[in-house]
Amino acid sequence: MVDREGVHDHGGEGTAAGELLTLAVDIAREAGEMLLAKRPPRPEVLATKSSPTDVVTALDKAAEELIRARIAQARPGDAVLGEEGGDTPGEGAVRWVVDPIDGTVNFLYGLPDWAVSIGVEVDGEIVAGVVNNIPRGQLFTAAKGEGAWLDGERLRCNTGVPLDRALVATGFGYGADRRRVQAEVLAQVMPRIRDIRRSGSCAVDLCSVAAGRVDAYFERGTNYWDHAAGGLIAAEAGARVGGLRGRPVHPDLVMSAAPGLFEELRNLLTPLDPDHD
Ligand code: IPD
Ligand code: CA
Ligand code: CA
Repeated sequence: MVDREGVHDHGGEGTAAGELLTLAVDIAREAGEMLLAKRPPRPEVLATKSSPTDVVTALDKAAEELIRARIAQARPGDAVLGEEGGDTPGEGAVRWVVDPIDGTVNFLYGLPDWAVSIGVEVDGEIVAGVVNNIPRGQLFTAAKGEGAWLDGERLRCNTGVPLDRALVATGFGYGADRRRVQAEVLAQVMPRIRDIRRSGSCAVDLCSVAAGRVDAYFERGTNYWDHAAGGLIAAEAGARVGGLRGRPVHPDLVMSAAPGLFEELRNLLTPLDPDHD
């Protein structure tokens, strides 16, 4: 079912999470349209962050400002954690977790895997998430307990895939030392799986797990805003989302796959120490 504006039916209508999701979708659409309209053929790097290749453009900042302004208009008093603007405390139980462009390097180079990612927490738990993969025209949504959706279709992750047939997405950090270790881990993983994919967007990778476009995803060093929305979308599509050594998702490591493959991948990764530089 598709609603009046062609927004995907996310199944959460009438619930608190569904209402937050509806607002998140509206805001992610508006930010996406702004980015698409204003993206120059070759965006300029405004500044670098953790390393010379960890870049921010003027449009990362403009998109986050737009998102923050819309949240403040609709729900003054909500807290916001955004990659570019940091943590703004609020007065209630709701906090918005925003990555205005996940996949900025793709945005810079004109590659299609970049997205506006917005997760919404109530009392510290993500209950709604939207990942708007603008260049591909694909908007992924989930509300807690209401499934994950794309274009009016409910998403289900791939199940029953053994590790040696698994297509596995991963990503690499911006620091040279971390990348060296990540490459060493990958050298051990590659002979044990079908193949690797590196999209350049953690949020898109998690949506790809949800949509069955890859079988699994793991990455060291992501931030909460990278995986807040995509993690809910993957979980609502039936995937496990967690860390290593029994921990929940953590910057040290994010993993996602259907139960069964998740455990196989975890057993492969754990002795390789992929959560240490
Ligand atoms: C990055 C992307 C990338 C991942 C990095 C993230 P950014 O986010 O999600 O896929 O490998 O760890 O930092 O910098 O494009 O917002
Ligand atoms: Ca990001
Ligand atoms: Ca970003």
